[in-house]
Amino acid sequence: MPDLITINVDGRDVQVPAKIQLIEALRNHAKVDTPAFCYHPDLSVAGNCRICLVEVAGPRGFALAIACHMQTAPGMQVRTQVSSEKIRKARKGVMEFLLVNHPLDCPICDKAGECTLQEHYMGQGRHESRLPDDAGKQYKGGADFRFTDAKGVERGGKKIDLGPTIVLDQERCIICSRCVRFMDEVAKSSQLAIAGRGDHAYITTFPGKPLTHGYDLNVTDVCPVGALTGKHFRFQQRVWTLKSVESIDPSDALGANLTIEYNNGRVWRIMPRRNPEVNKSWLANSSRLLYQRLAADRLSDARVSGADVPLADGLAAAKAALAAAKRIALVASGHATVEDNAALLALKDALGEKAEIFGGSWLAVGKPDGIARSGDPVANRAGLRELGIAENLDVLCDRVHEFDCVLILEHDLVAADAAKAARIATIPTRIVLAAWNDATAAKATIAVGIRA
Ligand code: SF4
Ligand code: FES
Repeated sequence: MPDLITINVDGRDVQVPAKIQLIEALRNHAKVDTPAFCYHPDLSVAGNCRICLVEVAGPRGFALAIACHMQTAPGMQVRTQVSSEKIRKARKGVMEFLLVNHPLDCPICDKAGECTLQEHYMGQGRHESRLPDDAGKQYKGGADFRFTDAKGVERGGKKIDLGPTIVLDQERCIICSRCVRFMDEVAKSSQLAIAGRGDHAYITTFPGKPLTHGYDLNVTDVCPVGALTGKHFRFQQRVWTLKSVESIDPSDALGANLTIEYNNGRVWRIMPRRNPEVNKSWLANSSRLLYQRLAADRLSDARVSGADVPLADGLAAAKAALAAAKRIALVASGHATVEDNAALLALKDALGEKAEIFGGSWLAVGKPDGIARSGDPVANRAGLRELGIAENLDVLCDRVHEFDCVLILEHDLVAADAAKAARIATIPTRIVLAAWNDATAAKATIAVGIRA
């Protein structure tokens, strides 16, 4: 437990950890909803948007301060929007400035429904616009806002293609710099920058260089507005129609926390789920885009001796083959859950002496990237270890002649190592339980579709 200190918030004593950002203390300990645009818990503090203003007592009485930059100290006295009219007014002013030229394209903006500008207008703004109708907004997205920079590069305007994955709608940007900090501090590849000054500041890549990085889709999450959007999700769904379920990355052993978001029986996006101990707020593009392959080429029914059959017939054929076999090799999988592998162990017990279990993978293990991937593509290797299943696939290759039947659970052995898998394919009866029509399912004598 961290050392707790007492601070006073709106006349209330609250116990908070020492030396944490005041915004975190207000949100998580004092339970005072405190808005932020530029602050992000997993990025450095920039302090440029000013929406988190509070009053903090100092030698000359209470003065305005930004809660994202201040750290908690014993005896600190804070006034928030709960008790201070000055704070309510200051935040309304910040919102008014931010919105004065912000486009009203919420109806066509992908961020609508999860846009902090919308949320904070309702929470902290609700001001009447003082912009005279005849003044009109400066829509920086208009064709007339395109300009040529000092290096002769076309800038500004709407729907700017930043690279293979990201589109920028310049006029929605509130210059919070979160995307720039993400690329500098997390991706460690400074590909975004703020150019220009004051009212003319704009977000950009470097001249002639695209935004391209294996984690660049995270800039669409940190962007508090709809300025940066991912091409894969642009105009696909309104976010309030999506339902979500918590999960972890099935493609890597770090187990990056994520949510799977779906609607109408289809997965539309995978989003990072914050876990400070594992992947913070980040998710690799490759993990995020896994959903695009979920529905493709599924093995939904079964195949026996190359012929498509209903699932029940495939299961019956597998049951009969297991009953008739003299020696069975069961191949467990680090791509399957602990429960699936425990079920395979239970099957081994039910089959008795004639069954033996093997585990492991031939996939190469890479290096951790320090962000959200461990480099081990076998996501549940630890689960197999916990179940006491050895990494001994090579032993099975050497002993294939001892078995007349093999059952492979959710594991594309051919894709991992075709030469070694060819030795296992010499076992006469090959039952494969697979979610997709992969190369190993194609070589099975009995392939049964499963969920994954
Ligand atoms: S593009 Fe988004 S994240 Fe980047 S500075 Fe603008 S508002 Fe902030
Ligand atoms: S959140 Fe504090 S200044 Fe932006």
